[in-house]
Amino acid sequence: MEGAKVRRLDEHDIGAAIALTNLENWGYTRADFVRLLTLSPEGCFVVEANGRVVGVLTTTTYDGLAFLGAVIVSPELRGKGAGKQMMETALDYLRSTGVRTVRLNAYLNAIPFYERLGFQREYEVIRWTGSTATGRARGVRPLRLDDLDGLARFDATYFGANRRALLDLLAEEVPSTFLVAESRGSIRGFLAGNPGGDSCEIGPWVVAPGRGSVSQDLYRGLVAAAGTADVAFSGPSTNEALLEFVRNRGFEEVFRALRMRWGADEFAGDPRGVWALGGLEKG
Ligand SMILES: CC(C)(COP(=O)(O)OP(=O)(O)OC[C@H]1O[C@@H](n2cnc3c(N)ncnc32)[C@H](O)[C@@H]1OP(=O)(O)O)[C@@H](O)C(=O)NCCC(=O)NCCS
Repeated sequence: MEGAKVRRLDEHDIGAAIALTNLENWGYTRADFVRLLTLSPEGCFVVEANGRVVGVLTTTTYDGLAFLGAVIVSPELRGKGAGKQMMETALDYLRSTGVRTVRLNAYLNAIPFYERLGFQREYEVIRWTGSTATGRARGVRPLRLDDLDGLARFDATYFGANRRALLDLLAEEVPSTFLVAESRGSIRGFLAGNPGGDSCEIGPWVVAPGRGSVSQDLYRGLVAAAGTADVAFSGPSTNEALLEFVRNRGFEEVFRALRMRWGADEFAGDPRGVWALGGLEKG
């Protein structure tokens, strides 16, 4: 787009970034953008035109895998190439830092935009909200800092890369709603909840496949720790046990996004162990 330039997002741009993402009601707060900048200080971008921020996107890198999110262009400037310019700058940056695989969760109507940039379809990600009564949680306790090494290894098996930096931040931010399920000295699952207003956003939530009861215990533990039964989260449509869980609890499907991949088909992890993403923009 003529007169538009892509540059790094810094702390001064957070207000403008929130104003843009609010147009889609994505609910980003200052703390969310600060967290994204802490994780990838060089990896978040804006498009500026006539001294005004008119586009934003964020990236978060884990090993050779990056997640891309919060992609938006000001409505009056859409269709003029700003989105493409911003995406190409981000992809060039990621490639230059050694990233081999980029993933994102695309709104269904934005799929052609990403396909034109070389992204391929993987699987659907579903967002749910719900509220249910709970029972007793067995074998679940708050995270201890000395869990983090083992937890990052456990998480990488299912997520596909090492998210230690994100887990460290969550351990600081939400210590009382970051829960671990352990049995006979081994980690079987974990969940981080981020309570805000009347509801609690869940994610990441990771459980070894075949251990549905561990997921139930973590969920019950979270509702008790968060002090609210209203939850929201997004998870992979390929996790059959998760689909059964939301069906049994009568949770409501809010929308679907499509997981897409650019670059090498690496860091696939095992989505059968993923119950909630760390956030649509962070994987
Ligand atoms: C999606 C979005 C970021 C695209 O930005 P943009 O500046 O309008 O896109 P561009 O003008 O750079 O388009 C680049 C190419 O994608 C195509 N394209 C863009 N949006 C498209 C859509 N919704 N459907 C089909 N093609 C689309 C353009 O035609 C163009 O094709 P070309 O390269 O062959 O000319 C912008 O429309 C937006 O902010 N949408 C609302 C928020 C949103 O949905 N974000 C994505 C969340 S996953």
